[in-house]
Amino acid sequence: MKVSVIGAGTMGTGIAQISATNGHEVCLYDSFDGTIESAKNKLNKILNRLVEKEKITQKEKETILGRITFTKDIKEIRGSGLVIEAIIENLEIKQKVFAEIESLVSEDCIIASNTSSLSIASIASACTKTERVVGIHFFNPAPLMPLVEIIPSVQTSQNTLNKAKSIIDSWGKVTVVAKDTPGFIVNRVARPFYGEAIRIYEEGVADFSTIDWAMREIGGFRMGPFELMDYIGNDINYTVTETVFSSFYFDSRYKPSFTQKRMMEAGYLGKKSGRGYYDYSKAVPKANEDRDLGKIILWRVLAMLINEAADALFLKIASREDIDLAMIKGVNYPKGLLAWADEVGVKNVLKQLEDLQAEYAEDRYRPSPLLKRMVKENKTFY
Ligand SMILES: NC(=O)c1ccc[n+]([C@@H]2O[C@H](COP(=O)([O-])OP(=O)(O)OC[C@H]3O[C@@H](n4cnc5c(N)ncnc54)[C@H](O)[C@@H]3O)[C@@H](O)[C@H]2O)c1
Repeated sequence: MKVSVIGAGTMGTGIAQISATNGHEVCLYDSFDGTIESAKNKLNKILNRLVEKEKITQKEKETILGRITFTKDIKEIRGSGLVIEAIIENLEIKQKVFAEIESLVSEDCIIASNTSSLSIASIASACTKTERVVGIHFFNPAPLMPLVEIIPSVQTSQNTLNKAKSIIDSWGKVTVVAKDTPGFIVNRVARPFYGEAIRIYEEGVADFSTIDWAMREIGGFRMGPFELMDYIGNDINYTVTETVFSSFYFDSRYKPSFTQKRMMEAGYLGKKSGRGYYDYSKAVPKANEDRDLGKIILWRVLAMLINEAADALFLKIASREDIDLAMIKGVNYPKGLLAWADEVGVKNVLKQLEDLQAEYAEDRYRPSPLLKRMVKENKTFY
C-alpha cells in the first residue's frame, strides 16, 4: 500500500521515515521551497546515524530512502491507500488541503490528520466522503515515541477506524483510541503535571528544582515538570494549555498560568533558547531535598492527574486501559494513573481533592463524580 505524507516538517518527516521503514512506498509532499530538500537531508542524516549505531545496514538505509518520493507536486499522492496530513496547525488551511487530497485519491483511501488540537470533525467536514477521515496522532519524535492516538470523529466509519488502527499497529506502535475531544487523551490528562506544579511554585511552596526533584525522586517521573516544560518549549507548552482551556469553554481546571506566559513573552522558551525556568549557562540550583515537603508536592500534583484520568474515563474519552497506556507510552509516566489511584487508594485521592477544593474554593479542584461514586461504592479501577 502506498502511503502519502502531507507536510515535510518535524512530524511529517518522522512519519515518512516510519512508513518507509515498514515497507511502504511513500510520497512525502510539501508545498514550500526548500522544505523538501531539508527533509531529505534530515532523513539521510538520521538514517546514517542508525547505520553507525548498527540499528540498520547501509543497504537497508538505501532501501528505506529509495522507497520515498520527495515532491512538491501534490498530484503524486495519487494511488495512495493512506494519506497522513501533518501541515501547519490551522483549520482553514487544513480544510483546503483535505479537499484537494480527496480530489486526487480513490474512494477507499483513508485520509488522516496528525493535528494536536483541532477537531477531526471540523477537518473532515471539508471532505465529501467524511467517513474515511480519522485522526492519527503521533508524538514527537514520531519514530521514537511508541504511542499513537487514533481518533474517530462523529463522521468516521468503524471500517476506517479498524483499518487505521491495524495499519499503525502493524508498524509496531502502541495505539489507543480516543474520542474527538480537546487534547485527546495525553494532552488533556497531562495538563495538571504542568499547571499544578506551576501553582505550587507561584504560592511559594517550593522552587523549580525542588518541585522537579520531588516528582522525579519520590514520584518516579523521568523528568520534573519544569525541566520537561523547558525541554518541550514554553511557547509550545503554553499554547497547548491555552488551546485546551479555550476548547473546554474556559473550564477553570485547565486555566493557563501567567508564570508560563511571561516566560514565553520574555523569550525564555527553555533549552532551545538557552534559558527557561532554568538558565542553561549555569549549574542547576540545588533542590531542597526535604522528603516531607516532596511528598506534599507529589501528592498534590498526582491527585490532580488522577482526577483528570478519572474524569476522562467518566466521560468515556477512552477505555481504562487506553488511558493508562497512553500516559505510560506517550509521556513516559512511571505508572498508569488509574492503576496508581488503586495503589494509593481512591478514597485518599478524593480526600486530597476535597481538601484542596475546601481550602481554595476554586472549581479547579472539583473532584470527578466518578471518584465520588467509586468511594461511595467502595470500588477500585481494576
Ligand atoms: N511538533 C510536535 O510536537 C507535534 C506533535 C504531534 C502533532 N503535531 C501536529 O503535527 C502537525 C505538523 O506539526 P510540525 O511540528 O511537524 O510542524 P512543522 O512546522 O515542523 O511542519 C509543517 C510543514 O507543513 C508544511 N506546510 C504548511 N502548509 C502547507 C500546505 N498548505 N501544503 C503543504 N505543506 C504545507 C510546511 O512547509 C512545513 O514543512 C500539526 O498539525 C501539529 O499540531 C505536532
